[in-house]
Amino acid sequence: MALHESVLEEFGLAPLWVRRGLAARQAEAGQGNASQTLRADADADADDERRAEPAPQTTREPLRASADVQPPQAPHESAPRLDETATRRETQPQPDFSAPPTFDAPPDDDFAWFDDPTASTPAPAEARRDAPALPAVHTLDWDALAERVSGCEACRLCEKRTNTVFGVGDREADWMLIGEAPGENEDRQGEPFVGPAGKLLDNMLHSLALARGTNVYIANVIKCRPPGNRNPQPDEVARCEPYLQRQVSLVKPKLIVALGRFAAQSLLKTDASISSLRGRVHTYEGVPVIVTYHPAYLLRSLPDKAKAWTDLCLARATWLANGGAPSNESK
Ligand code: URA
Repeated sequence: MALHESVLEEFGLAPLWVRRGLAARQAEAGQGNASQTLRADADADADDERRAEPAPQTTREPLRASADVQPPQAPHESAPRLDETATRRETQPQPDFSAPPTFDAPPDDDFAWFDDPTASTPAPAEARRDAPALPAVHTLDWDALAERVSGCEACRLCEKRTNTVFGVGDREADWMLIGEAPGENEDRQGEPFVGPAGKLLDNMLHSLALARGTNVYIANVIKCRPPGNRNPQPDEVARCEPYLQRQVSLVKPKLIVALGRFAAQSLLKTDASISSLRGRVHTYEGVPVIVTYHPAYLLRSLPDKAKAWTDLCLARATWLANGGAPSNESK
């Protein structure tokens, strides 16, 4: 489809994915277990938009500049090993599960220990000195970067992940979409946005004559699933940020779309609300950034789909103004 058509058909195409979202909602209402899966995915994906009850917020600290972030320590040297963790958990008082959970965490996600600051034993200085210096993240090529991420143990999130979720798509794309962190499906499959929210995202891209893998690269701020889909913590964001920065510098997109409050706030280093960040062009690492709602949130909020369509139109106009050529769109 020609690009101008997608703009002209704003009121024809946008409702397409609006309707698909509605269909997903109806399917959700009609299916017991399926609805739980969908809700779990939605809750997994988004930020304050994703929970009916706002999650307790941690105070956002400014992130360290990427150049200051040391490459993660070599595996096995700083992070506690899983068997150590198990021992620690056996000897510590266990959480009381008689109280009702405050969110939709699976019962095995008893991650209270996870945030115990004493649980992370720093490597002895001796061991750190002996560790071979790893090349800085900002010097890595695609393969080395993907390998570094897949072996990353720079923060506690490595301990419960199934897979790291690096990113997917055209590594020379004009458009880069950035979400929050993997959810359950993504953790299992190792690819971003593969659940119901991902289907909506694909429909949104289709409305712009774009497709996952064709002139679009999709990544997350955080490469490992936070247990129980809790909000990523500032130190986890800081540890992961060099990977995203390197991905951006390798892709060299003409445009970034930040999906949801968490991605927007992390990229733009702000506490501002999503509504105040929408409708303007920001920048990240010199690349224009448009902020829109997270697709998991849009699955549950029909009225805001129209606003998201407006955001995508602004994104497209910004891409064109930044040298984007309609011939680069997927056919
Ligand atoms: N939500 C996100 O923010 N990222 C994913 O990869 C999946 C869901």
